[in-house]
Amino acid sequence: MRILQVSAEIFPLLKTGGLADIAGALPTALLAQGCDARVLLPGFPAILAGLQDPVRVGAFGTPWGESVEVLFGALPAVSQGVHTVYAYVLVAPALYDRPGNPYEDANKHPYADNHRRFAALGWAAAHLAHGLDTHWRADLVHSHDWHCGLAPVCLAVWNAGQGPRVPSVHTIHNLAYQGIFWPQNFSDLGLPDHVFSVGGMEYFGQISFMKAGLSYASHITTVSPSYAREIQTPEQGCGLDGLLRGRAGALSGILNAVDDKVWDPATDRLLQHRYDVRNLTGKARNKAALQTAFGLTVDSDAPLFTVVSRLTEQKGLPLVLGGLQEILSRGGQLMVLGNGDTQLEQAFTLQAKAHPNQVAFKLGYDEDLAHRIFAASDVTLVPSRFEPCGLTQMYGLKYGSLPLVRRVGGLADTVTDTDLETLEDQTATGFVFDSFDASDYGRAVRRAFALYRRRSDWNRVRQTGMRIAFDWATAAQQYTHLYQSLM
Ligand code: ADP
Ligand code: GLC
Repeated sequence: MRILQVSAEIFPLLKTGGLADIAGALPTALLAQGCDARVLLPGFPAILAGLQDPVRVGAFGTPWGESVEVLFGALPAVSQGVHTVYAYVLVAPALYDRPGNPYEDANKHPYADNHRRFAALGWAAAHLAHGLDTHWRADLVHSHDWHCGLAPVCLAVWNAGQGPRVPSVHTIHNLAYQGIFWPQNFSDLGLPDHVFSVGGMEYFGQISFMKAGLSYASHITTVSPSYAREIQTPEQGCGLDGLLRGRAGALSGILNAVDDKVWDPATDRLLQHRYDVRNLTGKARNKAALQTAFGLTVDSDAPLFTVVSRLTEQKGLPLVLGGLQEILSRGGQLMVLGNGDTQLEQAFTLQAKAHPNQVAFKLGYDEDLAHRIFAASDVTLVPSRFEPCGLTQMYGLKYGSLPLVRRVGGLADTVTDTDLETLEDQTATGFVFDSFDASDYGRAVRRAFALYRRRSDWNRVRQTGMRIAFDWATAAQQYTHLYQSLM
């Protein structure tokens, strides 16, 4: 099975969030299942820099008259063990030769030509399914998020003409980001007029790349079973719930996994002190080291609550700010690493200034520090309003930090609340609250303190969490079964 994975980001070359982690791990996991998987990526500087021994496989013209070259090579940074990940990378400097964030400029404004930048990706996928590379032709195209949403429609339009029908899978990592553009940009996309319709990619008078993917993909997946259900409701459907209910028979949730080559405290080279479920001495040392580095009181008995996150509406951080006194008055500490929303950045900066020994805030994106935080942390806070899957609660579990999460999306699918019953049957792994309000959140925080005082119970819960596999083999098997069913 020749599968082309299309995404805008890939760890470790270019990452703005969990999408990159998944795009970086899935190809190797598929290769390990015997799938002939390759990836297609836009030629952002960081991605081109990671392409080894590139050869030119061809070029194609965009509908607006630009020429895009396609290079092929290996991605050593993405490859693991015996599995080499090969990639097609688009070379179009006018579109992609912009450093930094792939979607927006330094003032955090989306680039005005984003519809072209990502339409090229969609068309490239269709070309690779129809012989652009004479040595390798994709049997199925698997596209991710709105950036690649045009791939299924480009294939469908192509398929409507001559040649074999090439099926497509489109994965929603986050329905809240839809790639919406003005209708006058439609003419740039090179698609027939009928695509600009309610049954196609028209979205309240505008055009939506995400909707294009959802309307035309042979099958839609999202990154947890709960989110697959939630997006079929008006509350979480972002205006697309009707479409998704209509396609319920071709929609499923496949839970993300954790790449343990990157996220395993026993082998993590970014940690000062490595540890595992049998010996957690290293974890205590990592906690002391982080407390020292960020001016927090060095106290092994002070539960350390942490957040590693984009600071956006989705992540529910006003609950963390509102509930801070609950943590501080009980002798806890908070460490936050993140960037995004200016107001949230300022609010955490203020709290860190007001409580220098109990609150630390590191503004920015820092992959290495993220690892050190999970290793030091006692509780990973993820009180999201919505969460398609969420990776940080799983990293928390792996690193022995109990997740405190809202019962929504993938958080609900990966964390088991601690109560007498789950303690007794040893399934408890963290703290789960329901309503998005201060009192429900506050109760979960108090439960965390209560358990922290019962150290043997705490340790048991922590061990249960650390032992959960979240392995990629399981997820990759589900994807390969899906691919087979569509061929
Ligand atoms: P989302 O994709 O919605 O941002 P996920 O939990 O799926 O949420 O994935 C977030 C990923 O980004 C994780 O790998 C997390 O460690 C990482 N991350 C988020 N913010 C930062 C940051 N400021 N510095 C380093 N890593 C971060
Ligand atoms: C998105 C979601 C997040 C998910 C990630 C990877 O960014 O917000 O919940 O874990 O994609 O699928």
